[in-house]
Amino acid sequence: MKQREEVQRALQKAVLASIYAEKTIVFGEGAAHPVLMMIGEAPGGDEEKQGRPFVGKAGKNLSAFLEVLGLKREEIYISNVVKLRPVRESEKTGKAVNRPPSAAEIAFFLPYLKEEIEAVAPRLIVTLGNVPLKAVTGEKRAVIGDYHGRPIPLADGRTLFALYHPAAIIYNRALQETYDADLLALRAFLQELA
Ligand code: URA
Repeated sequence: MKQREEVQRALQKAVLASIYAEKTIVFGEGAAHPVLMMIGEAPGGDEEKQGRPFVGKAGKNLSAFLEVLGLKREEIYISNVVKLRPVRESEKTGKAVNRPPSAAEIAFFLPYLKEEIEAVAPRLIVTLGNVPLKAVTGEKRAVIGDYHGRPIPLADGRTLFALYHPAAIIYNRALQETYDADLLALRAFLQELA
């Protein structure tokens, strides 16, 4: 099994040799032996600027999430499936705006995510939204509506706990209650694990 640094080095090498060579890589970061590894979709603008996952607005969501769980950022490990910011040109402004990661981007980064999970070795993986859910389960047809809010045993002995992506809640306010209930269920599960 590779160590975290080895996984990062291999990833960096592959990116530099790819069409993504000019992009900023946003690596995962966090505790050495975390119980919980959180996996998002891909970095946004703030993350690209700072070179760190879940900062800026997503960082605020993360803080609220951690507060409910009674955890500190340094106590968990935080990463994304895709480690660079997927962008498109805005028709209105001509500026770069976020877009969902493409299938090609996900396929490029997936092997490194798998190695990263092995190296970090969390007991619990929390995914945010469909992209990391599909990546972690390996189920192409997995949808968050079927998986969210309960612990799901994975083949490797870890446990998956899938949540909606916080951004989905902004666009669909009805999801807020579901998300809040899921977080409480996650808190209860964490207490059981402790
Ligand atoms: N920021 C991240 O790093 N990942 C996300 O999925 C969203 C925002």
